[in-house]
Amino acid sequence: MQPLCFLHLSVFVDLMAAVWQQVLAVDARCEDPRAQGARGHRRSVSRGSYQLQAQMNRAVYDERPPGSLVPTSVAEASRAMAGDTTLSENYAFAGMHHIFDQHVDSAVPRLQFANDDKHLLACCSLDGTLSIMTLSPPPPTVKVTLKGHAGPVTDFAWSLSNDIIVSTSKDGTLRIWNTEDGRCIREVADPEGSELLCCTFQPMNNNLTVVGNSKHHLQVVNISTGKKVKGGSSKLTGRVLSLSFDAPGRILWAGDDRGSIFSFLFDMATGKLTKAKRLVVNEGSPISSISARSWISREARDPSLLVNTCVNKLLLYRVVDNEGTLQLKRSFPIQHGSQPLHSIFCPLMSFRQGACVVTGSEDACVYFFDVERNTKAIVNKLQGHSGPVLDVSFNCDESLLASSDATGMVIIWRREQK
Ligand SMILES: *[C@@H]1O[C@H](CO)[C@@H](O)[C@H](O)[C@H]1NC(C)=O
Ligand SMILES: *[C@@H]1O[C@H](CO)[C@@H](O)[C@H](O)[C@H]1NC(C)=O
Repeated sequence: MQPLCFLHLSVFVDLMAAVWQQVLAVDARCEDPRAQGARGHRRSVSRGSYQLQAQMNRAVYDERPPGSLVPTSVAEASRAMAGDTTLSENYAFAGMHHIFDQHVDSAVPRLQFANDDKHLLACCSLDGTLSIMTLSPPPPTVKVTLKGHAGPVTDFAWSLSNDIIVSTSKDGTLRIWNTEDGRCIREVADPEGSELLCCTFQPMNNNLTVVGNSKHHLQVVNISTGKKVKGGSSKLTGRVLSLSFDAPGRILWAGDDRGSIFSFLFDMATGKLTKAKRLVVNEGSPISSISARSWISREARDPSLLVNTCVNKLLLYRVVDNEGTLQLKRSFPIQHGSQPLHSIFCPLMSFRQGACVVTGSEDACVYFFDVERNTKAIVNKLQGHSGPVLDVSFNCDESLLASSDATGMVIIWRREQK
């Protein structure tokens, strides 16, 4: 536990509540006969909260419909390799590792661990700055602050080699930063002078970034020249809020504030975008987050898209063709009415059984859902934030989860190590 002296009282109270909840979670698992041998003691806890928590953390895989993706014989093999733990055991959290409050009082809409790095993460804030934080060697520190934007920073992305971060801002510029010294390498103004709301790297060619603005436009930008790519622009039906490429970088999905998701085919040689499909998820409900994943679990190649839109649900779509056509597969209840909430697929590494997604929620909690369970899909719930949780990110080995909220807090959660 990190020193608490810098925390507001309300945060402290929430923090203790969260720690207590995690203590209960640990106890709940002690009830499990499989866990009993491993733990030498039990704490006494009040019955009511204990039962609630026990339910939250129990994963009973007896409701799996026949023909569902896992377990297959291959799944059995990988599960044996991984030690046969259930998904909820796997995603049990031992508590908070650290709290960063350098952006307190301004929302932190995005945060992300660096690629293939356990201890490096960054976040952007409506206060106009980004920060790069390092968790090791201890103590966790803000390594560098990226200063230069003249307005709220709406989104950012790490390059594959983590040497560069691109960011978008309501000041109408895209900025490219050197992550080592925090220097702004380049600033690219939006030709329309409009607010920039989201950005993403083309995964196969990090010289190219796609940017979405408030005048409904998408634009591919060559960041080594700062120039727009010819043929690399398109128009949506509303403000462009969210972007995601599939892993090979061939399909790009973009979501707008009118409730539409468009798919585009990306031409690798030229950087050209071709509009392919449109799906109206819910007319008028902003699409605040899109994440693409080609393998839903270790065993099943099942291209999927995870979507947050303001309908009090997290939506999981199946990608059914090479043009990015979407078919609704599942939805999970969360609180989502207006905030720019984000969600992620859990990294594949630690899958034991099934597959997990994690999302922020307006009730100040982080939710874990098992995408393959038809009932009681909730695997875990982390409490500790004091405002809507806007974004979540796992580090590469899933030992840590970071979450950010509308009050500017960033919490690093430590996963229980077996
Ligand atoms: C980006 O462009 C530079 C030349 O400007 C080239 O050397 C480099 O390989 C390119 N990077 C990628 C990922 O294509
Ligand atoms: C981006 O710019 C670099 C440097 O001028 C160039 O080599 C590369 O071909 C450009 N890429 C695209 C897709 O336009």
